[in-house]
Amino acid sequence: MLCLGIEGTAHTCGIGIVNSRGKILANASRTYIPEHGGIHPREAARFHAANARLVLNEALKAAKIDIDDVDLVAFSRGPGLGPCLRTAATAARALASWLDVPIVSVNHCIAHVEIGRLTEGAKDPVTLYVSGGNTQVIAFDAGRYRVFGETLDIPVGNCLDVFAREVGIPHPGGPNVERLAREGKHYIPLPYVVKGMDLSFSGLMTEAVRKHRAGSNLRDLCFSLQETAFAALIEVTERAVAHTEKREVMLTGGVAANKRLREMLKLMAREHHAKFFVPPMELCADNGAMIGWTGVLAYRHGVRQKLKDTGVMQRWRTDQVDIPWRNR
Ligand code: ATP
Ligand code: FE2
Repeated sequence: MLCLGIEGTAHTCGIGIVNSRGKILANASRTYIPEHGGIHPREAARFHAANARLVLNEALKAAKIDIDDVDLVAFSRGPGLGPCLRTAATAARALASWLDVPIVSVNHCIAHVEIGRLTEGAKDPVTLYVSGGNTQVIAFDAGRYRVFGETLDIPVGNCLDVFAREVGIPHPGGPNVERLAREGKHYIPLPYVVKGMDLSFSGLMTEAVRKHRAGSNLRDLCFSLQETAFAALIEVTERAVAHTEKREVMLTGGVAANKRLREMLKLMAREHHAKFFVPPMELCADNGAMIGWTGVLAYRHGVRQKLKDTGVMQRWRTDQVDIPWRNR
């Protein structure tokens, strides 16, 4: 069985092709980069519409298959930006009905976890999923993927990106902040906010920008911003590990590219005698293969959907989804 997975929650128009044994035959994508400022949902949706055909052709070519060989279509139903989600869902419905194959909808956050379990061999990890649009600590418990902690305001990737933009660090913000942080020498105290098991980054971002305007050294600020934000992420992930007594920790999402974050999480995992996993970056970032693979898992375990029940869910929560493939 070949599943075509369509990712379209935000910046990335991704199409992956995965077989029922979990072999990734293709993972093509194009990423929308706003000309200035943050993401504009309708512009991003137009980008998806304009690029879907190209990405589809790339994926089919890489997989060396014909569109008629596709047996199942999966798509990212949420969470994400409405216009982007609707564009990807429309493409998925059109393809499924034209090919006359089943369609399954996939939760984007769960797909991040499942692709890591597939390729890295993690069985039951506590996952720190950190990107421009999401910040969650996820672990499987009592039949569902539970969110053990999450941001109460902006995601950590967004915190780094907005800080970069405000202080004049060129795009892409995250990697450039990381590069400057390596040259930082002095820690500048910044607000560290952990509330229960949840996190907050907007006060941290605002204060870092304010300190820059007040004349603090930019390299020291980048260093301090990373140290503060990442320490908070590690604290919450560590508490989830301690609570669940799981022996695996996984890092994913676009911010997983950050070497300092990897180092800190790895250290924490080691202290808990837990194995540490990071999927390759093309699978940490938003991608179609993770949607395709999660679609395979769902379909193989009896998930069936009618076209009329595939409306997008902008705020679809990780813990709202039944996981039949882990409940046997
Ligand atoms: P999602 O839909 O999952 O929220 P996204 O649209 O934010 O994803 P991703 O490619 O998963 O896209 O992640 C991009 C984010 O990762 C950006 O916020 C970017 O700054 C951040 N990022 C990328 N590289 C690094 C790095 N080296 N250090 C810190 N952050 C990074
Ligand atoms: Fe994502």
